[in-house]
Amino acid sequence: MSTDQYAVLGKTPGLRELEKLSFDDVHLTINGLEAGYGKMVILHDLNLMIGKAQSLCLVGPNGAGKSTILHSIYGFTKINAGSIKLGNNDITNLSPNEKLKNAGIAYILQDASIFPKMTVEENMLMGGFLMDTVAHAKEAAEKVLAKYPSLARRRNQNAGVLSGGERRLLEISRALIMNPQILLIDEPSIGLEPRFIDMVFEILKDLQKTEGKTIIMVEQNAKKGLEFADIGYVLVSGQVARVGLGDDLLKDPDVGRLFLGG
Ligand SMILES: Nc1ncnc2c1ncn2[C@@H]1O[C@H](COP(=O)(O)OP(=O)(O)O)[C@@H](O)[C@H]1O
Ligand SMILES: [Mg+2]
Repeated sequence: MSTDQYAVLGKTPGLRELEKLSFDDVHLTINGLEAGYGKMVILHDLNLMIGKAQSLCLVGPNGAGKSTILHSIYGFTKINAGSIKLGNNDITNLSPNEKLKNAGIAYILQDASIFPKMTVEENMLMGGFLMDTVAHAKEAAEKVLAKYPSLARRRNQNAGVLSGGERRLLEISRALIMNPQILLIDEPSIGLEPRFIDMVFEILKDLQKTEGKTIIMVEQNAKKGLEFADIGYVLVSGQVARVGLGDDLLKDPDVGRLFLGG
């Protein structure tokens, strides 16, 4: 599909429009971000806003820069202009470790990040590597394991024997050890059988609804992602092309034709 086909979506909604979607306290704001890798600029004048305990899904064609937005929030890109704020605090230039330890932002790494020869419990403890003592990490791991008995039962088994769904649960659980307030998650459904996909979205919904986590996700399964999320952003060529409530974007004929196979 050529980029022209996405022109119908429009370009760069104003901040007012974004503001309307983040109903409650604004938790994270991206303002006029220009970011990329080395000399390559991927994101152009990007704005994003999400309220506390809201969920937002980024959809769009391959290579649009969706993952780069998560990378930028977490501190993996080169930021040339603009800002990222947590409430009123500027966190644009914090390192990933500072994001995790001090700003309460966790980035859920995918698949390859599980150590298959280590036990479930050992994998969990890796999520606490920034904690002051191993005892603190253990305590935090116990809290998370108490929430997920299916994982707790397998704590002494090697992570390599887990099913795809259990592995994803382990990745999420490990990210919870630092008790983050914002979860960044890239393509949670990728490579999973359908029954596990629903399980993963249910786990995330529970984290949002019962623990008040703010969730920013990228999802190539646009239907699942927009059904899940309160707010949807359509990204094209490093720019936000359209925003709306997830439900409204699902009904949007342009979005349907381009991303939902409708
Ligand atoms: N680590 C990286 N170094 C250099 N270029 C990258 C890197 N990651 C992604 N890119 C480039 O950035 C662009 C956007 O990629 P990405 O954010 O992964 O898109 P999406 O997640 O929407 O598919 C692509 O052109 C991709 O090749
Ligand atoms: Mg991506």
